Amino acid sequence: MFLQKAWRSTAFGVWGYFSFTKSGFMEHSKKFKAEDMQTHIEGKNCIVTGANSGIGYATAEALSSRGATVYMVCRNKDRGENALSKIQSTTGNPNVYLEVCDLSSVNDIKSFASRFSSKDQPIHVLVNNAGLLENDRITTPEGLELNFAVNVMGTYAMTELMLPMLEKASPDARVITVSSGGMYTTPLTKDLQFSESKFDGILQYSRNKRVQVALTEKWAEMYSKTGVGFYSMHPGWAETPGVAKSMPSFDKMLSGKLRTSEEGADTVIWLALQPKEKLVSGALYFDRAEAPKHLLFAGTEGSHAAIDFIMDNLRSLCSLPS
Ligand SMILES: NC(=O)c1ccc[n+]([C@@H]2O[C@H](COP(=O)([O-])OP(=O)(O)OC[C@H]3O[C@@H](n4cnc5c(N)ncnc54)[C@H](OP(=O)(O)O)[C@@H]3O)[C@@H](O)[C@H]2O)c1
Repeated sequence: MFLQKAWRSTAFGVWGYFSFTKSGFMEHSKKFKAEDMQTHIEGKNCIVTGANSGIGYATAEALSSRGATVYMVCRNKDRGENALSKIQSTTGNPNVYLEVCDLSSVNDIKSFASRFSSKDQPIHVLVNNAGLLENDRITTPEGLELNFAVNVMGTYAMTELMLPMLEKASPDARVITVSSGGMYTTPLTKDLQFSESKFDGILQYSRNKRVQVALTEKWAEMYSKTGVGFYSMHPGWAETPGVAKSMPSFDKMLSGKLRTSEEGADTVIWLALQPKEKLVSGALYFDRAEAPKHLLFAGTEGSHAAIDFIMDNLRSLCSLPS
C-alpha cells in the first residue's frame, strides 16, 4: 500500500514536471491557434474572483484588453484598487470595476450577489479563480475550515447565486472554475472540512480542487437546459504570489521552470473566448484541450458519485433553497 502510494506520487511528480511547468506549456503551445485569442468581447460582462493577483489578475487584464466590462472581485480594498488602476492603465479600458467581497464568507457572497443583481445585468463569464492553500487548520468567523470556505463554498455559492444573471446572457454564458492538477491525486470525499483525520493542508487543497471538478460536471448536468456552460480547468504550475507563500520549497526548487501567471491564465482566457459549440460543458480543460478527470491507477474513478451528497451539504450550509 505504502509502495503503491509512493510510486503514484513519484509518477505524478515526473508527469507534472514535464507537463505542468513552463516547458510543458511551450510544448503544448505548438498546437495553439493564434486566431483563437483574437476575439474582441466588447459589451460582455465578466466577473473574475481573486483578480488582484497571479492568474486572476492576468485573466482580468486579458479580458479587459479585449474590451469586456470586467468586475474584479477581491477581498482586500487596497490590493483591489491597486490592481484595478494598473489594469485600467495598461488596457485603457474604463469599464473595469472593483467589487470587494470575502469569498470565505457565505454572508459576504450573499450581499455581493444581492448588490450585483440590483444592477439587473447579464453575466456572460464568471471566472471562479479565487483560491488558497492554507497549511494550518484555520476556522473562519462563520465556523468553516478556511481552504474549504474559499475553494469550495466560495465557488459553489458564487455560481449558484449568479445563475439568474448568467441565464440572462444565455446561450453565451459560461462559468469557468480554476481547479488544480493536484486534484488528480485524490478522490472525491464527503469529509468536506477535513474533520475525520489529522489535518493536512495540501491534501485538503487537492480535495477541494477535486470537488470543483465534480461540481462543474454536476452543474453541467443539472443546468443543461439553461444555456449556461460549465468548465473547469487547471493552469499547470505557475509562479504566483500564492505559490510562493503556500509552497515556498516547491517554488524555490522549480524557480525559473514554472509558468508565468499569463501562461497559467491562458486556458481560462481561451475558454472565455471560444464559441460555445467548440466546448464541452462539464469537461476539464488544460492547455486549450479537454483533459481527463482521472488518471490510470489513481483510484479516483467512480468517486464522483458522492457529488449529490456534497451538493445537498453545500446547499444547506449556505442556506440556499433547493
Ligand atoms: N499558481 C499555480 O501554480 C496554480 C496551480 C493550480 C491551481 N491554481 C489555482 O489558481 C487560482 C489562482 O491562484 P494563484 O496561483 O494565482 O494565487 P494568488 O496569486 O494567491 O491568487 C489568489 C487570489 O485569490 C484571492 N483570494 C484568496 N482568498 C480569498 C478570499 N477569501 N476572498 C476573495 N479572494 C480571495 C487572493 O486575494 P489576496 O491577494 O487578497 O490574498 C488572490 O487574489 C487558485 O484557485 C489556485 O488554486 C494555481
